[in-house]
Order: sequence, then C-alpha cells, then structure tokens
Amino acid sequence: MTQVTPIEQVLDGHVPEGRAVKIRGWIYRSRSQGKLNFVVVRDSTGILQCAVKKGVVKDDHFEDASKALLESAVIVEGTVKKDSRAPGGFELQASHFHVLHFSEVFPISKDQSTEFLLDVRHLWLRSRELTAAMKVKAVVLEAIREYCKKEGYIETTPPILSSSAAEGGSTLFEVPYFGKKAFLSQSAQLHLEALIFSLEKVYAITPSFRAEKSRTPKHLAEYWHFEGEAAHCSHEEIMAFEEKLVAFVCHEVARQCQKELAVLGRNPQDLEKISAPFEKLAYQDAVKRLQKKGFKFKEGDDFGADEEAALTEGLDQPVFVTHFPSSMKPFYMLENPDGTVNNHDLIAPGGGEIIGGSEREVDLQRIEKKLKKAGEKLENYAWYLDLRRFGSVQHSGFGLGVERLVKWVAGLEHIRDATAFPRVMNRAYP
Ligand code: 4AD
Ligand code: MG
Repeated sequence: MTQVTPIEQVLDGHVPEGRAVKIRGWIYRSRSQGKLNFVVVRDSTGILQCAVKKGVVKDDHFEDASKALLESAVIVEGTVKKDSRAPGGFELQASHFHVLHFSEVFPISKDQSTEFLLDVRHLWLRSRELTAAMKVKAVVLEAIREYCKKEGYIETTPPILSSSAAEGGSTLFEVPYFGKKAFLSQSAQLHLEALIFSLEKVYAITPSFRAEKSRTPKHLAEYWHFEGEAAHCSHEEIMAFEEKLVAFVCHEVARQCQKELAVLGRNPQDLEKISAPFEKLAYQDAVKRLQKKGFKFKEGDDFGADEEAALTEGLDQPVFVTHFPSSMKPFYMLENPDGTVNNHDLIAPGGGEIIGGSEREVDLQRIEKKLKKAGEKLENYAWYLDLRRFGSVQHSGFGLGVERLVKWVAGLEHIRDATAFPRVMNRAYP
C-alpha cells in the first residue's frame, strides 16, 4: 500500500470504516496514556487523531510514537474508525507508525507575543489560521483571474523596476540601477495604460511597494496589486466591472472555502449576500455624512480608519466614494469643470479602502499642465505623454490591494496575516 490519503478525505467520510489508509504529515498534538498514544497528525488538508497502541504496532514504532515531539514528520498507516470524541469525528487506528524526522523542541507554544511570532513566522505559517488564510488568498487570486478572463481582460506583466512614479515620490523605494537610480513599482497603472492601445482590456497582478511609515492593520511595505485598465471605458463602466468582480470573488470564497472560513470565524453567508451594484457616494456627501456623525472633518481631508468605519457603519457591503477634489489626487485623473475628478475609492465594512481607481485624463495639454503644477519634469513622463499623442481615447482603470481584499473577505484582524512573509516598517525577516 503506497498511496497516501489526504486527511480531508477521511474527515469528509469518503473512506469507509475499517478501510486501511496511509496518511502523511506532522505531529500537531500528542498525549500518552501508558500503553496508548494519541497522536494528532496534521497535513495540508486537516488534522486526524491516530491511536497508536502497544502490541498492535511493532514495539519500536510504539516507542517512536511515544518520544516523537510536536512537528515531527510522520507516516501513519491504519484503519479508519468513527469516533465522536476525536477531533473531526474520525480516528485512525494505527498499524504502522513511521517517523520521517524527529523534530527538535518546537519554539512556538501558547500565548506568545506578536513580535516573537513574527520572528518565527517561517514556523508559525504552520498554524491552522495562517494555513486557512493562505488558502483563501489562493482562491481570491484564482477568482480574480477567472473573472478577468470571462470579461475579456488580458493578463500582462508590467515591470517592477521603474524610472517613473505613479503615486507620488514620498513613498518610493529607491534602488541602484547600473549607476543610475530606479524605483520599485508602486503601481503598474502607467504601463498598463500603454498596453490598452494594443490589447484594449488588460490587467496585472504584481508586487507593489510603498515606503509608507505607517504602522496600521492595513499597510504593508510590499503587497500584491491587482490592477485593471480598459480602453473606451467610462468611470461608471469601470466601477460596474469592479463591483461585479468583488461580488464574484466573495461568492467563490464562500463556495470553496467553507472549512477555512470556519477556522477563521467568518460567516460565509455574509459573503454570499454581497451583490452588485454597490452604493455610490460623492465625496462631498461623505463629508456631510461624517460631519453629521460628529466628525471634525472638512473638505480636503482624507479618510482615516475611523472615518472609513463610520462611512460603512451598519452596511453589509462595500461603498464607493467618488469625485474627490482634484487637489487631493494624482495628475492622471480626469478633472471635471467643478474641480472634482472622476475617481472612486471602494471602502469595505471592516476592511477599509480596498480599491482606488479613476477615469484618466486623455488631453495632452491638460495633463502637461497638471504635471507641471505637481512640480514634475515633463521629460520624466515623455513616454507616458506619447500615449496622449497617438490615438488617445477615453479609458479608466483601478488598483485593488489583494491582501486588503483577503483581510476583509477572510475576516482577519491584521493585513500581515493575508500574506505569508509580511514586509512592514522595520521588518523584512524572515
Ligand atoms: O489607491 P492606490 O494608491 O491607487 C493606485 O496605486 C492606482 N495607481 C491604481 C490604479 O488605478 N491602477 O492603491 C490601490 C490599492 C488601494 O486601494 C489599496 O487596496 C492597496 O492598493 N494599497 C495597499 N495595500 C497594502 N498596503 C499598502 N501600503 C497599500 N497601499 C495601497
Ligand atoms: Mg488610494
């Protein structure tokens, strides 16, 4: 018997009682009752209790089971038995217990500090919560790609090293580049804009970097950025695409991640309920709403976590805040005669801003004027300005923080748990 059975199949009841199986994993928990060892084994799909009995397994197997520490790598063969006392309702009655590797004393036990757990992140990744979060993230990424494909968006791979800034200079990571300097990308937007003139509807999922000196539950220095850009697309049309995409991702996670959501304490029904269209609230009205709620908030102020929470209070689904004052936003957004821009932030209840997007300025003179006003040198944007010289068309796009979305969808408290090896201020280890 060589085939290995995923633990999930046993827990799902797919293995008949009495059937012999082989499982493979790591010791999650262990307790000894003299001649009987209960060893709970973890694999990527679940945990299963194995009863290892003296006299039933060979003596050296029994001794190994008695002395193997947590996180030892093991292979266990045995027969499946229903047992309501075992976690998951099934037990494996071992006939063979083979240790692949005897673990040293595992440094992680209960009640350890957040800092310590971040120091041993490479080991803490084995926790059930992080395992569940990583699986949700995989489904989120898969659903994004599936939706884009369905809508005719083509995946592209824009550069990470760049000489131009998309989102302003203050949060750029600078890197030496063959005697010159380059920057780690904050956004693929400008390069995606170049690609719409051949492919029309494009997207990219790339790492983005922000040297933001903010320690908050929603900021990473390195995050995965899903960005879309479409030619002949209005502001309303791009928002319609985004809201349907977000709803689709929520439904896929609810459908495919029942077990993971249970581990994370997130109710899948709340995700199933999400449906397009989402409410659209003009920035001016958002300001009024906040003032009514007692906030000392005035036009021109940006939303912090408290304002975001107040704006989504009591809501079941995200809300778009649109048409910010032009003075608050980057040069590339299309400005209206009233001084607002055709932009939007999508704010999720308990998740904060998960998307920022806009319709883009298409007129060469207007965009040059804005760049100059922002103190930028036009020659640094020469290639980008060319896009307004050769067949410029209406277009819109957006950027979605994948970890922000995962944090919200999975109900995580902190964005760092939406990524395996978080890069935050003062930490790039492990
Ligand atoms: O709002 P942002 O800065 O917009 C842009 O970068 C546009 N150029 C995108 C575009 O139109 N193509 O960033 C977009 C999203 C935010 O809404 C947020 O979800 C995420 O990126 N984000 C971060 N996620 C984690 N950590 C950070 N420090 C983030 N900064 C932005
Ligand atoms: Mg933003």
